[in-house]
Amino acid sequence: MTVLETARLRMEPVGPGDLSSLVSHWREPGVRRYLWDGDVVAEEQVRGMIARSAELFDVHAVGLWSVRERHGPRLIGCAGFWHFHDPPEIELVYSLSEAYWRRGLGRECAGTLIRHVFEALDWPVVQASTDAPNESSLALLRALGMQPSGQRPGAFGVIETFTLTREAWLSRGRL
Ligand SMILES: CC(C)(COP(=O)(O)OP(=O)(O)OC[C@H]1O[C@@H](n2cnc3c(N)ncnc32)[C@H](O)[C@@H]1OP(=O)(O)O)[C@@H](O)C(=O)NCCC(=O)NCCS
Repeated sequence: MTVLETARLRMEPVGPGDLSSLVSHWREPGVRRYLWDGDVVAEEQVRGMIARSAELFDVHAVGLWSVRERHGPRLIGCAGFWHFHDPPEIELVYSLSEAYWRRGLGRECAGTLIRHVFEALDWPVVQASTDAPNESSLALLRALGMQPSGQRPGAFGVIETFTLTREAWLSRGRL
């Protein structure tokens, strides 16, 4: 099991024991606004995603990680890499409870995931996307050094897509 630790956070692959915490987290209004297009996610869907995450870890060594403060039991977020689109592409995803926003934790969490896939898994590139009006997510992707790569239609008009190559990440002095 790949546990990732940062200065302030501990991230573990999500498991069945995270179900109710994850449902509550993803249902928070500020979290679901863009992540779930405003929908209140069903518990069964989250259960399926936890199972799917375990499959992704088996095949790709990535999936969804729960995010907790290093010494706190409470789930305060979820982040990792998820299969989107058809054919599937793996994209960076992240969410933190609103009470924890604007403290640099998004950058700490997503930056650690990026370092993990570049250093431990030797990925050549990381992909991400976000709804154009999602200012905090856009700001985070820019802060991570991700480069705009295009647009596609989305629930809020336009989805902005981003990439970060391993070379670009190395040349900017990692994170
Ligand atoms: C996106 C999210 C994870 C950002 O987390 P965070 O902990 O607040 O981000 P950080 O504090 O690490 O900030 C990262 C950078 O973005 C900037 N930023 C964050 N929120 C911002 C906002 N609302 N407006 C402008 N800039 C913002 C910060 O100033 C920082 O920039 P800097 O490093 O150059 O100073 C958080 O807002 C969230 O969970 N949102 C809901 C879930 C979601 O929408 N996920 C994305 C779906 S695609």
